[in-house]
Amino acid sequence: MKNNPIIPYILIMAFGIGLIFFMSLEGVGNQEEIAAEHGEGATEEGGETAGAADGEALVSSCIGCHGGDLTGGMGPKIAGLDAEHIVDVLTNGIEGTPMTPGLKTGAEAEAIAEYISSLK
Ligand code: HEC
Repeated sequence: MKNNPIIPYILIMAFGIGLIFFMSLEGVGNQEEIAAEHGEGATEEGGETAGAADGEALVSSCIGCHGGDLTGGMGPKIAGLDAEHIVDVLTNGIEGTPMTPGLKTGAEAEAIAEYISSLK
């Protein structure tokens, strides 16, 4: 009897489907873990992180230029800079650069600066 030439393809396909199924189950598990961790953190800090001035969340508007971990991209590394300096740059801007004045102000600027200065 001659082997059917499509059998290897069917095996590969079955393997692929199995892998996708496995990975999606893994993903759901991880998501639950992350959600649980987040919940714990929030209660420890008395639910403060849920406010509008969440530095870690606000920083999402900076990563496009300063890199995913704020260690530099098109813009310079800002992780670990002095919080006061960051508030100054956000409020007053740097003339002639994409850092326009008022990018973030008040409590938001302070939350974001505190978070960034805590990074390395
Ligand atoms: C459109 C791109 C862009 C975005 C978005 C952006 N930056 Fe910048 N940023 C730059 C560039 C470019 C510089 C360098 C300016 C210069 O030449 O001095 C800079 C400089 C800075 C500096 C000064 C660094 C230093 O060494 O003094 C700080 C602080 C800073 N950015 C913080 C932020 C924060 C916080 C955010 C998010 C709220 C942000 N930036 C969003 C492009 C960007």
